[in-house]
Amino acid sequence: MQIDWLRRWREGRIGFHRDAPHAALVDHWPRLGLAAGAKVLVPLCGKSHDMRWLAAQAYPVLGVELSPLAVDQFIGEGALPALRYAQAGFSCVRQGRIELWCGDFFRFHVEQAAELAAFYDRAALIALPRASRQRYAHHLAQLFLPGTQGLLVTLTHANGERGPPYSVDAEEVERLLGPNFALQRLAGPGEPDAKGACETVWHLMRRGPCG
Ligand SMILES: C[S@@+](CC[C@H](N)C(=O)[O-])C[C@H]1O[C@@H](n2cnc3c(N)ncnc32)[C@H](O)[C@@H]1O
Repeated sequence: MQIDWLRRWREGRIGFHRDAPHAALVDHWPRLGLAAGAKVLVPLCGKSHDMRWLAAQAYPVLGVELSPLAVDQFIGEGALPALRYAQAGFSCVRQGRIELWCGDFFRFHVEQAAELAAFYDRAALIALPRASRQRYAHHLAQLFLPGTQGLLVTLTHANGERGPPYSVDAEEVERLLGPNFALQRLAGPGEPDAKGACETVWHLMRRGPCG
């Protein structure tokens, strides 16, 4: 699966990439009410413009991405100088308020997550096949302290397990994430896009020991 993603980036098959910040982020992020300076984790970040949007709102970003090509393209598209370093087995690069960690998200652990205040998942959960989604939901939960908030954008389509993107409906979101996060559906499912996929936007808050 990881080899498939690396190949996709090499071949430029990145139809998921958008040239502008996602409307769901722009519309719904302000309701999290985070203080300026709150650091945001963006798992499976690609070279998303959403990270630049978050940074421009004064939120430092830590993106985790498997493909070195994606990381290099993101940095190449930015105007600021970049500083490269290695940390915890990841090849990292910092540009302004954005740090990109190149490597496997499942190797990103709680010691590295200590300073994270929020997270943003667009096309991360839905990029993974069923068994990996279970693992992802568990991994995400154990990174955060109770009260940590996030925004999640999922989609559904008629082809079920044909993906990526995989169709992840509300029932699966509740099943995977509901045990560890309080979930609120903010929008959707919306109208189908040109490929017949409908997006749903969720607010998540990490639960404490008493729920
Ligand atoms: C569907 S894309 C979404 C990218 C980005 N979130 C966006 O909205 O454009 C999924 C990304 O996850 C990356 N990826 C897949 N598995 C990964 C893993 N285990 N660790 C880190 N990144 C991974 C892929 O290389 C790809 O860039």
